[in-house]
Amino acid sequence: MTAIEAIMKRRSVRKFTGEPVTKETVMQLIDAAAAAPSAMNLRPVRFILMDKHDMAKLAATIDQKQPFEQGQWAIAVCADTRGYTGGTGWLEDASAALENILIAATALGLGSLWYGVYRRAAKEPQVRAALNLPEGAECAGIAVIGHAAEEKEGHGAADGKFVLESKWSE
Ligand SMILES: Cc1cc2nc3c(=O)[nH]c(=O)nc-3n(C[C@H](O)[C@H](O)[C@H](O)COP(=O)(O)O)c2cc1C
Repeated sequence: MTAIEAIMKRRSVRKFTGEPVTKETVMQLIDAAAAAPSAMNLRPVRFILMDKHDMAKLAATIDQKQPFEQGQWAIAVCADTRGYTGGTGWLEDASAALENILIAATALGLGSLWYGVYRRAAKEPQVRAALNLPEGAECAGIAVIGHAAEEKEGHGAADGKFVLESKWSE
């Protein structure tokens, strides 16, 4: 699959089969994440790899349990903002990294979900506790990975929906 095919095929998967995913494969996804650009190349992003045991523990504390109960791995995309001088860059870095995980997972034939965490009052405290984050370490979101148990069409062309010519128009 080409990069553009993977990008166009990616969709959020919330139902997974029980088929395992090797640690080697999930580490490939983290390599892809770490290859994302970083504002001023400050590289504050850290990845916390969660196995099924870790995911089950988190699932017990949050509302959206299913992806964490059915997925094989979760990658919490975090950032060390202590002494960080790049403003909001850490959140942009983490978002770029997280998207790379989703695209790479699609390219490898896997399903994935972006579970948003940062500033979500109903889930951030539980995630911070599960990951043992100290003050100043932030979790942007969690990528849940597994074999998809649901099929969805890609979104298709952006033109006609989201593209404006030359300047903003209503
Ligand atoms: C920042 C962000 C946070 C998200 N958080 C969640 C989430 O907590 N749970 C969830 O099921 N989907 C979450 N999603 C996935 C969106 O719901 C999904 O991208 C959107 O519905 C479009 O569907 P698609 O990903 O299949 O294109 C999140 C997506 C983004 C970008």
